[in-house]
Amino acid sequence: MSEIRYPRATRIDAAEARLLEVEPWDKVVPLRANDLDSGSDPSFEKVILPTFRTLLARRDITSLLDVGCGAGRLTRRLSDLSRGSIVAIDPSQVSAQIAQEHLGSDDRCLVHNMSIQRYAASGFGGHDACVVSMVMQDVVDLASFLESCSEVIGPRGSLYCCVAHPCFWPAYWHYDSQPWFSYDREIFIRSEFRTSLSNSGIDTLHVHRPMHRYVNELLGHGFRVKSLLEPMMSAEDQRNNGVTWRTPHFLFIECVRRG
Ligand SMILES: C[S@@+](CC[C@H](N)C(=O)[O-])C[C@H]1O[C@@H](n2cnc3c(N)ncnc32)[C@H](O)[C@@H]1O
Repeated sequence: MSEIRYPRATRIDAAEARLLEVEPWDKVVPLRANDLDSGSDPSFEKVILPTFRTLLARRDITSLLDVGCGAGRLTRRLSDLSRGSIVAIDPSQVSAQIAQEHLGSDDRCLVHNMSIQRYAASGFGGHDACVVSMVMQDVVDLASFLESCSEVIGPRGSLYCCVAHPCFWPAYWHYDSQPWFSYDREIFIRSEFRTSLSNSGIDTLHVHRPMHRYVNELLGHGFRVKSLLEPMMSAEDQRNNGVTWRTPHFLFIECVRRG
């Protein structure tokens, strides 16, 4: 296994952030697909996937949408929780292709190569459940993103979001001590994407936003927050995977669209 370096995280402006919003995911997604297929990402296997499964299993779902589906691995592993259609969308062309190859054998699944904004503008919608996994911390314009999510979810439909926890990520990427960092601001950051096993050499964007910013944007776009979750990896899973979690790494927000 190659030694993991902690890559430099650099503050960038909104114009540069826009250039990094989608294009790098074309290069990252094959690595991410391998990582997930090898089962070597304990955060995904032991925390993200089971948390989404528990939340989604609480309601009867007939039309599931996965926004920013990446390689489609999460979509696939949630698909049994919809008794109707499953739609996965991603503006990264390679992601949509890889997701299509992975999901294509299930004729209930449809993959579209488009952003949520284009999907909403094309008149698609009526979903009763929508999953947004590790996407909201990668979009430049959170307001437009959530407005489109709200348009494609039917009244009283559910939105399930997972973001990198904004109290953990700055320490993980070692920028919490940078002079430009301030917890309560929106900050665009360029840093090298890391799989669970190695550095990728590919720069991606992530956006630091305080927790209240996510919640207030959701409330402002027609959602009611039903629950906030900060799941921890169990002590046994930490031991078995050789990792230590002192704080939650992910923040889940479960919402319902007001009628
Ligand atoms: C960190 S990846 C997450 C992929 C997948 N959900 C996962 O958990 O592995 C972020 C994804 O969001 C997608 N994305 C970026 N902007 C988007 C937008 N406006 N609408 C939908 N997806 C978007 C990117 O192309 C990328 O595939």
